[in-house]
Amino acid sequence: MEYQKLIAQAIMAKESAYAPYSNFRVGAALLTKSGRVYTGCNVENVSYAATNCAERTAVYKAVSEGEQEFTAIAVNGDNNDYLPPCGICRQVLAEFCDLEAFEVILANSTQDYQVITLAELLPGAFRPENLRPGIF
Ligand code: THU
Repeated sequence: MEYQKLIAQAIMAKESAYAPYSNFRVGAALLTKSGRVYTGCNVENVSYAATNCAERTAVYKAVSEGEQEFTAIAVNGDNNDYLPPCGICRQVLAEFCDLEAFEVILANSTQDYQVITLAELLPGAFRPENLRPGIF
């Protein structure tokens, strides 16, 4: 899928953001290996730590519907700049993605974006095979 199409879906997903505390809306669109797209937005909570980022919303939606293999995610925030996923989201993505191949598309608009791999964003990641070496 073209980057532009995925970015457009992330921008659209941002419209559903629930962000009354930060007033900072984020949208994400996650592409599966099978070609489907799962979108997500940030969902904040009055107990701030219970907030869920847009990227994780997209991953959890996809996994809960049986998808576990992903190739790219586009992210768009209200900051008019490239919005890098937070550390927790990077870790959640790392659970399901090939670090070297998975593309994170930091999008300011459909025309203005930057593509970076998850390996670049999360060097030295703690991965399932590190939990009990030898069993995976
Ligand atoms: N947020 C995301 O949804 N994704 C990110 O990658 C960074 C931060 C959200 C969380 C919170 O609702 C708001 O942005 C401000 O941190």
